[in-house]
Amino acid sequence: MAADIIAIYPGSFDPLTSGHVDIIRRGSHLFGRIIVGVLLNRDKSPLFTVHERVDIAREVFAGYTNVEVDTFDGLLVEYARRKGASAIVRGLRAISDFEYEMQMALMNRHLNPDVETVFMMPAEPYTYVSSRLVKEVVALGGSVHGLVPEIVEARLREKRLARETLRA
Ligand SMILES: Nc1ncnc2c1ncn2[C@@H]1O[C@H](COP(=O)(O)OP(=O)(O)OP(=O)(O)O)[C@@H](O)[C@H]1O
Ligand SMILES: [Mg+2]
Repeated sequence: MAADIIAIYPGSFDPLTSGHVDIIRRGSHLFGRIIVGVLLNRDKSPLFTVHERVDIAREVFAGYTNVEVDTFDGLLVEYARRKGASAIVRGLRAISDFEYEMQMALMNRHLNPDVETVFMMPAEPYTYVSSRLVKEVVALGGSVHGLVPEIVEARLREKRLARETLRA
């Protein structure tokens, strides 16, 4: 039964976008528990620290009793085993996500056949949203209103102001 299943949704979430939120919400309806696993130390120069990313996700999902936010390092299937998770959730935006995601899913299955990867599609308005693009737009002074949770919009504004103050 899906309701008994613990799922892991891994990613860098630098920052959390409305696309991520959409996938986590869908996962929370489907699975007994969904663990948002923030990957440690992948990007050498992230915009938000792992600590900030975890805080943001915890705040956004404060009202969800079956959403947990955690960090992990090393092999994803090992982390899943430690957490008692039998599903990995990934989001698919477009065909361009497919090749990489298929390789990862099949490699993870090779490493641990007991963990199933489940793909979900976000609501259409989020199919073009990525953390990288959000950061690019913000750096160039564009608005990402609605494409990220409000708390992320506020934190992005703070970062921008801090940078401008440093430059002044
Ligand atoms: N807008 C979105 N809709 C659905 N799934 C998404 C969306 N953005 C990211 N995902 C999925 O969420 C998971 C975690 O992705 P990740 O943390 O790399 O986010 P990202 O937005 O792709 O960030 P980056 O631009 O830094 O790669 C992946 O499965 C990714 O495909
Ligand atoms: Mg990505």
